[in-house]
Amino acid sequence: MHHILGIDVGASGIKGALVNLKTGMLVGERFRVPTPNPATPEAMALAFKEITTFFNYKGVVGCGFPAIVKNGVACSAANIDPSWLGVNIEQVFSEVSGDPVYATNDADAAGYAEMAFGVGKGNKGLVLLITIGTGLGTALFYNEVLIPNTEFGHVIWKNHKPAEAYCSSGARERQKIGRKEWARRFNQYLHHMERLLSPDLFILGGGESKLFENYKHILDPVAPVVPAKLLNNAGIIGAAVYAAERMK
Ligand code: BGC
Repeated sequence: MHHILGIDVGASGIKGALVNLKTGMLVGERFRVPTPNPATPEAMALAFKEITTFFNYKGVVGCGFPAIVKNGVACSAANIDPSWLGVNIEQVFSEVSGDPVYATNDADAAGYAEMAFGVGKGNKGLVLLITIGTGLGTALFYNEVLIPNTEFGHVIWKNHKPAEAYCSSGARERQKIGRKEWARRFNQYLHHMERLLSPDLFILGGGESKLFENYKHILDPVAPVVPAKLLNNAGIIGAAVYAAERMK
């Protein structure tokens, strides 16, 4: 099977597309539904089904989910409804859609995509991908192998708050700071990550990575910093890559 439906669950939207696993490209259009509010498992499952129905899809679905995901179960709820804690994401989504669903952390999914088809391809060193959105998600690879569920967006920062409360897009919007000030903050965060992990490459993903050209001159850790090649589609593509892996 070369085409798998990948679905990226986010705090503001749930996006899906068919992914060609040979090329890593989307097949046809993306379809997005707004994340329901409150984003309870029941409400999200209906939104998920809207996507599988839109594509008239029957088959295995890959799902990137914004939480720690262990054996299909949501083990944290930083930017999602707390009612998800301890819930089996795969079960909830597959019961409603009728399709087998494989779920992984959303940043890990974006990482799979970048390592398979994007700027991380062939990189044998330590690669840290950071998705910048409502939260800060991270995916860490060494020799192209993922160390799953890293949560470096939650390193304790100022005032005992997680780093994502200081330099995610969500924080930028909430605190109404300009992009220059945001980039200065994010640069401090990159330096901190460098002190802890000494990566060989930083890859920036998520919505903010689309504007990379505007702020790249402010970022100056030792390791190179590059925007994700697949930009906002990395989560969808990586979810499909993950599902294909689970089927092996
Ligand atoms: C969550 C992560 C997630 C990231 C990006 C964080 O708040 O803890 O699991 O990957 O947001 O969605």
